[in-house]
Amino acid sequence: MYAKNSEEHGPSREGSFDSVNPAYEEKQLNKEDNQSISTSRPSSSAKGVVTIVFSLKNEVGSLIRALRLFQEKHVNLVHIESRKSQRKNSDFEIFVDCDTDHEQLKELTQLLRTHTDVVEITPFENSSLPDDDIAGLPWFPKKISDLDRSANRVLMYGSDLDADHPGFKDKVYLKRRKYFADLAMSYKLGDPILRIDFTTEEVRTWGVVFKELKKLYPSHACKEYLKNLPLLTEYCGYSEDNIPQLEDVSHFLKERSGFIIRPVAGYLSPRDFLAGLAFRVFHCTQYVRHSSRPLYTPEPDTCHELLGHVPLLAEPSFARFSQEIGLASLGASDDAVKKLATCYFFTVEFGLCKQDGRLRAYGAGLLSSISELKHALSGRANILPFDPVVTCNQECIITTFQDVYFVSESFEDAKNKMREFARTIWRPFSVHYNPYTQSVDVLKDTNSINSMVKGIRDELDIVEEALSRLNT
Ligand SMILES: [Fe+2]
Repeated sequence: MYAKNSEEHGPSREGSFDSVNPAYEEKQLNKEDNQSISTSRPSSSAKGVVTIVFSLKNEVGSLIRALRLFQEKHVNLVHIESRKSQRKNSDFEIFVDCDTDHEQLKELTQLLRTHTDVVEITPFENSSLPDDDIAGLPWFPKKISDLDRSANRVLMYGSDLDADHPGFKDKVYLKRRKYFADLAMSYKLGDPILRIDFTTEEVRTWGVVFKELKKLYPSHACKEYLKNLPLLTEYCGYSEDNIPQLEDVSHFLKERSGFIIRPVAGYLSPRDFLAGLAFRVFHCTQYVRHSSRPLYTPEPDTCHELLGHVPLLAEPSFARFSQEIGLASLGASDDAVKKLATCYFFTVEFGLCKQDGRLRAYGAGLLSSISELKHALSGRANILPFDPVVTCNQECIITTFQDVYFVSESFEDAKNKMREFARTIWRPFSVHYNPYTQSVDVLKDTNSINSMVKGIRDELDIVEEALSRLNT
């Protein structure tokens, strides 16, 4: 999510998804568009919000003509936005959320296709749940491969940088960013993550960040971080003159905590990013920040991911805590996702913990930012106990240091508090992660609950047997 580096010109944002940009938050862009229109809804009369993406040439009146089709079919627009198209033969793309039913959608898309180039459509739901049970609830992945549908819904494309980005005018850098973006966009679950031949300049940039931060870690990082960093040096090649490969890091994490890395082209919405955590998948950028300002980046880059996030993701208790937030987000309302994203922000990105009577950092935004890491533990920062009920309403600041940091007693304690908090979030079901199938069991009726109870009984049998062996 958000993190910051602020060494030279004040803090700015970093992270893996954008919690305050609502423009794209609830998009459900299904890459398998056409097939799912006709197969995903058994009922033709139930209504729901559908996202349609179509592209247009930049001609006078083209948008109005397209929107008139919605009017003709009496389809209610809920949200509309545009962005510059990355595709050939079109100038810009229009994203439309509309409230419609299956029949209306079918007629509308037929009509729309005769006037525009329909790029993607995300229908109501592709889940195995009956529609009645999930009507009105946002789509969420049920199995790990479903993340292939959501991982490319990024807010920014690789070379599409803001004007104030340090690399905005650097054509070589823009080309390089596009290369990384294209790699991430073509990634599918199970693919090996491509090993990057990082340039000398990229390694030098990484080296500056690594060297400076490493000086601070012994006095500022939590003990779990300090335990795992040497292991990453040993097994994944963390060093000043080598940028670790995500493929190696992913294998390492899988063995330590069950997390895997998935490359991503840029910011994901909070909903899509948190959904990845539910499956112990961490969406991770692979490009390096611009070399002109090695201690600054306005967005997440691989230095932030590798130095900020990865050492903690290797910790089983932290992995459980992260997954807990992800599971709570599945199918939750927009408001609930926003609250969960804020809790994520003040823990996984900017969290502090108490260890041996001293404050230590475990948030990736802090552990990848020299100035904010110093500030948070300087004794001058405002520090409050982590309490999701309070924390979820705190403002996330992306242009300067946080007004307040939240301290947890332990990851276990933070996880329990998040679990308590998640119980207060309304959902017509509970979810349970099944590590064998890497899918989410939706507990919505006695059958599904009984099935889970049976699994727990089997596990308890093993515990009972183990105890009896101990006694004998
Ligand atoms: Fe981050």
